[in-house]
Amino acid sequence: MSLIEEIEKRKTFAIISHPDAGKTTLTEKLLLFGGAIQVAGAVKSNKIKKSSTSDFMEIEKQRGISVATSVMTFEYMGKRVNILDTPGHKDFAEDTYRTLTAVDSVILVVDSVKGVEEQTERLMAVCRMRNTPVIIFINKLDREGRDPYDLLEEIEKKLSISTRPLSWPINQGSDFKGVYNLYRKQLNLFESSKQTLTDQMLNIQDIDSSEIDGLLPAKDVKKLREDVNLIEGLYEPFDLDLYRSGLLAPVFFGSAVNNFGVQEVLETFLEIAPSPLPRLAGERLVQPEEEKLSGFVFKIHANLDPNHRDRIAFFRICSGKFERNKFYAHTRLQKNLRFANPTTFMANEKILTSEAYPGDVIGLYDSGNFKIGDTLTEGENLQFKGIPSFSPEIFKELENRDPMKTKQLEKGIRQLSEEGVAQLFIQNPGNRKIVGTVGDLQFEVIKFRLEHEYGAKCTFSPLRYYKAFWVTSDNKVEFQQFLQRKAHAIAYDKDEHPVFLAESEWNVTLSKNDFPSVQFHTISEYERT
Ligand code: G4P
Repeated sequence: MSLIEEIEKRKTFAIISHPDAGKTTLTEKLLLFGGAIQVAGAVKSNKIKKSSTSDFMEIEKQRGISVATSVMTFEYMGKRVNILDTPGHKDFAEDTYRTLTAVDSVILVVDSVKGVEEQTERLMAVCRMRNTPVIIFINKLDREGRDPYDLLEEIEKKLSISTRPLSWPINQGSDFKGVYNLYRKQLNLFESSKQTLTDQMLNIQDIDSSEIDGLLPAKDVKKLREDVNLIEGLYEPFDLDLYRSGLLAPVFFGSAVNNFGVQEVLETFLEIAPSPLPRLAGERLVQPEEEKLSGFVFKIHANLDPNHRDRIAFFRICSGKFERNKFYAHTRLQKNLRFANPTTFMANEKILTSEAYPGDVIGLYDSGNFKIGDTLTEGENLQFKGIPSFSPEIFKELENRDPMKTKQLEKGIRQLSEEGVAQLFIQNPGNRKIVGTVGDLQFEVIKFRLEHEYGAKCTFSPLRYYKAFWVTSDNKVEFQQFLQRKAHAIAYDKDEHPVFLAESEWNVTLSKNDFPSVQFHTISEYERT
């Protein structure tokens, strides 16, 4: 198969949602479709969560929270589907944000009862940064949920994206009868807890024809005709280009736990979702069909295999073909590396792979060479963009509790921050270590891992900061004055870029007034002058 055919075959995406909306259930159903797993109902027994993502770290076993991000691959309708799993727990949101930099599109699951929730809004804000195409699956139609028109309005308003329903529900809750697929003009009638995965689609080209009359109660037929005619009058026809530009989200309705509407969303996804897209590096736009390999690391994971201490770097291929045992240039370290055991992932299994193509994610064993965002090429000096750090929300000072283990602590916290478990800011003089996270749970993870993997003991004391701002200025003199005057609130990130730790919004406003040339960025990636 040619490189272009390999690229066109691939669809790399993530399923995202606010916790409990049904991401895991939908993922499982898609895997069942693809034949990647065989057992239905695995989610109910929590099997998928455990076998595919949660066993990697001892701490996860204890907590039953999916911390890891793994990759699940299957073939369906001639396409190779790569699902990048994201942690469900909100405290690990930053992991999810990073994973979103490695996908070409997403499916967003919204709970029809709860509508748009807090985490949905944040995840979509991240998608918008790269104009990632989004398909929306409104789930749990078997429950008494919100009015579908209201849901669409809320999605448009809160997520700042236009919507275009491609299916439309017939009632909901105990009276849920199914959906009409506006895209394919097919009626899909609901059966609860279907034993088969496949939807039974009936072709109904004309909603006003009598074909539909015997299939549903007269009142439902009447309402459906009104709804369909209203929607077709209200909305423009589905525009593929707008979807691919991230401006328009096609919307489906279904019930993942009942296998309902899943096939519909999967098949439409395969038809419309983009194959691997060009990627922006600092130097230029890289096309996937370029012959030379390029790609970047978006996640580093320790202890996938508890018997070994290796780390695994998750590497997304952006162009060319990856080959086992070939030398590639690590552009940050200016060093050539080759990989004898690159792996693909499936559940807890790692499978040796000898080649991979754009859109694929492979695991590279790492003995400490990689940081998140690192780029590999065949020699060209490229650095991919779009792996920003976001301002943490909780800040604590890390204190060493065992002076005999200072070295281990230093090494441990540095490696954990390179893995992206938390962000580390150093404040001088004194080498004060300020750890920033989006959730409290990460502090427990750090403490646990420092103790179990590095033999170091620490405690954390809370700090009053509310946000970190990466600061820049094109006025060198004023910038120096700013750094000196605010020294008590300045720390340095892993790349030694200065960060202003603010106690309040007021703090920032004051600083902006005093130092007008200084720019305050809430994400680490911006054009540096
Ligand atoms: P998440 O990954 O987004 O956090 O959500 P997950 O799939 O774990 O689903 C959260 C809960 O919602 C689960 O119930 C799941 O069974 C249920 N669910 C998923 N899809 C549907 C649906 O279409 N209709 C209804 N009524 N429920 C749905 P749980 O009680 O929390 O867990 P479990 O004991 O069922 O596994």
